[in-house]
Amino acid sequence: MKWIIDTDPGVDDAAAIIAAEKGLDVLAWSVVHGNVDLDKALRNALFLKDLLETETPVFSGAESPLLEKRINAASVHGEDGLGDLDRPAVISRPENEHAVDMILEKSRTYPGEVGLLTLGPLTNIALALGKDRGLVERIGRVVIMGGTSTGRGNTTPVGEFNFAADPEAAAMVLRSGMEITLVPWEPTVEILFPLSELEGKLGTGKLARTFLAMCEPFAAFIEKRMGRKGIILSDLVAAAVAIDPQTLLKGANVFAAVETAGQWGRGLTAIDFAGVSGQKPNIKLCLEADRKRVLDILVEGLS
Ligand code: BDR
Ligand code: CA
Repeated sequence: MKWIIDTDPGVDDAAAIIAAEKGLDVLAWSVVHGNVDLDKALRNALFLKDLLETETPVFSGAESPLLEKRINAASVHGEDGLGDLDRPAVISRPENEHAVDMILEKSRTYPGEVGLLTLGPLTNIALALGKDRGLVERIGRVVIMGGTSTGRGNTTPVGEFNFAADPEAAAMVLRSGMEITLVPWEPTVEILFPLSELEGKLGTGKLARTFLAMCEPFAAFIEKRMGRKGIILSDLVAAAVAIDPQTLLKGANVFAAVETAGQWGRGLTAIDFAGVSGQKPNIKLCLEADRKRVLDILVEGLS
């Protein structure tokens, strides 16, 4: 499988990209609004491209969600989205083609062979579906970091960030008919990584040092907000599941939909665990991930 990484970097996006560039055959990165505005997210993607010295092309995508106002997660990832480090000027340039057109084009060039690893709001994928529904048949596999498995949100009471940032797009993608593995927020919280553990494992190379420096404000935020010491690398868990499906230790094939209305319900992942909806399962839901495997995959990415 050849992969497109759809991303809104983001500290955990950075970890996922580091791992995916080593563990997957990556065709391109498509950038989307999310953790920070699109221009900052694009700059971050190009910064990571420079840092990784990779030839993978970077495409700019949607700057706003389908319907409502943009939100961001700068309080989590830093004002610049990558921990507010002093950084060199970006050298790499984005491609001219729009990310949505690139996704469609790659799916036509490699029908059935392209996987989508999505690490941000699903706006680019929803727009691609809106432009050409044939995408459903041509995409081999989709691994999504987004949503919740128990309805406990991190952005609204019931909404995980990527789904809350564009609920309509998430709803469209989940009901599209594509083969989806969903890595929700909860199993990624369970495998929090203390920075001291990461420091011990990741080594002292330039890439590892830069990544660990990015993580510091994120770790401070988690300690303040959740009273826990460590960093939650949700997108890395999704990348690990794409790289090695065995990373998913416990899963369920279920019907799931995204709520787009209601005073409190918008962005909620509604999951039919009991099979009461009469709907066929449309996702494989990750309930538990292999912490050791996730960390090994990050270490491999940094080696
Ligand atoms: C998701 O939201 C973002 O802040 C992270 O990068 C991740 O994709 C976790 O809810
Ligand atoms: Ca992300």
